[in-house]
Amino acid sequence: MNFNLPVLAPSILAADFSQLGNDIEQCTDAGIDWIHCDIMDGHFVPNISYGPAIVKAAAESAPEAFMDVHLMIEDPDKYVGDYVDAGADLITVHYEACPHLHRSLQNIKKYGLMAGVAVNPATSLHNLEPVLEYADLILIMSVNPGFGGQSFIESSYDRLQEMARLKEEKGYSYLIEVDGGVGLKNIEQVRESGAEILVAGSSVFKAENIGNRVKELLSKL
Ligand code: DX5
Ligand code: ZN
Repeated sequence: MNFNLPVLAPSILAADFSQLGNDIEQCTDAGIDWIHCDIMDGHFVPNISYGPAIVKAAAESAPEAFMDVHLMIEDPDKYVGDYVDAGADLITVHYEACPHLHRSLQNIKKYGLMAGVAVNPATSLHNLEPVLEYADLILIMSVNPGFGGQSFIESSYDRLQEMARLKEEKGYSYLIEVDGGVGLKNIEQVRESGAEILVAGSSVFKAENIGNRVKELLSKL
């Protein structure tokens, strides 16, 4: 699939769940066509967010949007089918949660979806080398996973640059996604460091006017 890069990907983790459809529509009306869904199980990360039913509701609120599901859960292989049924277009699993990572990616691709790998801030990027040729997306966590509204971890800039260098040097086709602490103050530097898909939760959904904030962020990409 070809994407009009860079992409701003609102994370609905920060949305007002009492009016999720309306919050999402404010994003799509402002030009968003990629929605990021953060799934947390309270085991892999110290927080529980939401499950397939909310992903399905979000997908129905934005039928044209690309649904990007980030599984911050233990044993993700067990739940991939549920997120396929909920309308996911891409599913990302954590390197740290997958003892058989290559098989986990095969398990996602067999449904015809794109498959991504996420790494936490303390995980060496060298661990990804065996799957870079096979992954459709690499997600660089720029916060410790589990909560929205955290500060961007500065070392993430170098990690994004490393993934961009490798992609260029080896001719890999993975998309480079960044997730956590992205906002008006740093979005340009994050983009310049190589991020192609920029996840933003609080910066979008905690703004006074979601649509205007989306346009402001897009204007900086
Ligand atoms: C962390 C979550 C957050 C979320 C983005 O586990 O994955 O990074 O997507 O949240 P903000 O943009 O509020 O940091
Ligand atoms: Zn995420």
